[in-house]
Amino acid sequence: MSTTIIAFFNNKGRVGKTSLVYHLAWMYAELGVRVVAADLDPQANLTAAFLDEDRLEELWPDGDHPQTVFGCVQPLLQGTNDIPFHTWKISKTA
Ligand SMILES: Nc1ncnc2c1ncn2[C@@H]1O[C@H](COP(=O)(O)OP(=O)(O)OP(=O)(O)O)[C@@H](O)[C@H]1O
Ligand SMILES: [Mg+2]
Repeated sequence: MSTTIIAFFNNKGRVGKTSLVYHLAWMYAELGVRVVAADLDPQANLTAAFLDEDRLEELWPDGDHPQTVFGCVQPLLQGTNDIPFHTWKISKTA
């Protein structure tokens, strides 16, 4: 299976990156293309563009956020998962 990945990059801020991704994502979806919009920006503006306030509040409760990208990588950031420990061991012995 091949998948087309479109990435937008511009090192300037506030030039419309998120807006462009948002509009292309829903337009491709309307054309029948299966689209995943991956929002890795801590500002979460792309997520906010797609979801209403109630859904955003559901995704970001007090405490852990298991339904978010941040929730998935949080154990790695906290070093409570095997993966960062394993990576650290490799880099220390290399
Ligand atoms: N084509 C456009 N015409 C007018 N205003 C626009 C256009 N595209 C985006 N904007 C507005 O410009 C502002 C910045 O847009 P956007 O958040 O998409 O930029 P960004 O590059 O993702 O910003 P950031 O660097 O903060 O992530 C927003 O207020 C948005 O509504
Ligand atoms: Mg943005």
